[in-house]
Amino acid sequence: MSEQIAYLNGEYLRLEDARVPVLDRGFIFGDGVYEVIPVYAGKPLRLAAHLQRLARSLAAIKLPNPHTDEEWAQLLAELVKRHPWADQSIYLHITRGVAPRNHAFPAVTKPTVFMMSGPLKLPSAEERSAGVRTLSLEDFRWQRCDIKSIALLGNCLLRQAAVEAGCKEAVLFRDGWLTEGAASNIFVIENGTLLAPPIDHLILPGITYEITLELAHQHGMPVKVAPISEAQTRQADELWLTSSTNEVLAITELDGHPVGSGRPGPAWRQMSEWFEAFKRDLRSGAEGVASAGVTRAGAPVEAALAGTPAAG
Ligand SMILES: Cc1ncc(COP(=O)(O)O)c(C=O)c1O
Repeated sequence: MSEQIAYLNGEYLRLEDARVPVLDRGFIFGDGVYEVIPVYAGKPLRLAAHLQRLARSLAAIKLPNPHTDEEWAQLLAELVKRHPWADQSIYLHITRGVAPRNHAFPAVTKPTVFMMSGPLKLPSAEERSAGVRTLSLEDFRWQRCDIKSIALLGNCLLRQAAVEAGCKEAVLFRDGWLTEGAASNIFVIENGTLLAPPIDHLILPGITYEITLELAHQHGMPVKVAPISEAQTRQADELWLTSSTNEVLAITELDGHPVGSGRPGPAWRQMSEWFEAFKRDLRSGAEGVASAGVTRAGAPVEAALAGTPAAG
């Protein structure tokens, strides 16, 4: 693999040379937030939405955003340019920085800003056409799963339990209600309707979740965003998981039982086609539904990445 370059506090350096002090609050407390941004043909997917979610996570942990959206766009464009792959996966991580160990925040904060990028590794064609196995587990994480926190021990324990059971992902329930996966959002197909759990403090507002709902709306697939019970999930015609690095995958097994026919279903096949078309538009620069999520505030960001002057 070609050499990976990291960005750390204003410098670009070889990933293996990047170092942070042991008193960094990210290391000591997991005090920080992150983003994962997929890049197709050199273009970050829904950058404005990712930066908006980053700003929300930072505000939720009372950490001032170290950069404007325009600065982020430039830093990210530079990082992408330093790697040879057309399709990449950017990892962006901000902590509250270095301070004597004390739970309360330091009076003066100099955040640590770290980014790296690698080739985007999507599921293989075989995995997509076979679908994936999942294991149901009680969602024992904290009550702020809407924050994209770097403290992911709960998610790691849940994913590990799934992997040890021979599964790709955990499907999480809290008090009998579907929340999400260990690192994905979960959708249900019931009688031709796409059901999604509402975005609240118990799930991460996934960018792929948002795109999936938009594509369904755009193509006229019935959609209902409402709490989904465990019983509904277990009786689903289809289950899907979505994330930036998995796109939309069919879940064909839950706890050893087939989901629907036990094969990826017709609604999933449709959504996959729509998602492929959406990516083709993104690669070619025709934004399609990609532009729907770009707010006025986000517009200059997209323009900065495209290397064109911001309009308006
Ligand atoms: C807990 C959790 N939920 C949902 C997602 C999906 O979010 P996105 O579609 O933005 O990748 C992730 C992504 O890593 C996640 O960690």
